[in-house]
Amino acid sequence: MKTTNAYKTLSPVLQTKIVMLGTCLGSKPINGIVNGNQLISINSTGNRSLVYTLINQNVILKILNIPADQDVEALLLFGGEKFFPNLYAHGTTKDGNTYLFMEKAQGAPLSQIQPLSPSDSEKIKKQFNQAIDIMLKVKRCDNDLKAEHLFWDTTNKHLTWIDFSLCDKVPSEFTEESKFGLREVLTRIL
Ligand SMILES: Nc1ncnc2c1ncn2[C@@H]1O[C@H](COP(=O)(O)OP(=O)(O)O)[C@@H](O)[C@H]1O
Ligand SMILES: [Mg+2]
Repeated sequence: MKTTNAYKTLSPVLQTKIVMLGTCLGSKPINGIVNGNQLISINSTGNRSLVYTLINQNVILKILNIPADQDVEALLLFGGEKFFPNLYAHGTTKDGNTYLFMEKAQGAPLSQIQPLSPSDSEKIKKQFNQAIDIMLKVKRCDNDLKAEHLFWDTTNKHLTWIDFSLCDKVPSEFTEESKFGLREVLTRIL
């Protein structure tokens, strides 16, 4: 398992827990790890991944069903920037698939908090445009943008964009086209 700089900001207890879980993930079947380790499943099967939250912690464990590592690549590039979760650690399961420990997005996905007030919609648009600039600056474009992947924290008026399993490299000449495409998707969401 590899840890990031953001990992060092976590409490020593949480760091120990992550290292313990990472060691288990690398050597044991997943079922045995989930039971008894204070992990709560937050997505149903049939997706690209299994996602858990660590009880009472703002940390998410995402275990992919495939060996893909776009999530890690993307979060190493822009994780922890405004509007994107911090990546704390990542590694490979016993089965050769990628897992990540990352920051839990605050608030709720836009799919769950419609209708939004006009004022919140404006703020979301503004923050989203800043987020796109951060993503495209490192030449990445998310091809799986949807309401479930944009978390809005109504209290702090803060947007967090998640799920970079389909976040691909984009050549500079397509930057404007990608920006346009992402804005189009947001327009349909709001
Ligand atoms: N960092 C996160 N913060 C809060 N919830 C998350 C986070 N990552 C994943 N989730 C929750 O788990 C669900 C599945 O995660 P996601 O990254 O979208 O996986 P998949 O690639 O399988 O679609 C998300 O729709 C969201 O509800
Ligand atoms: Mg998803």
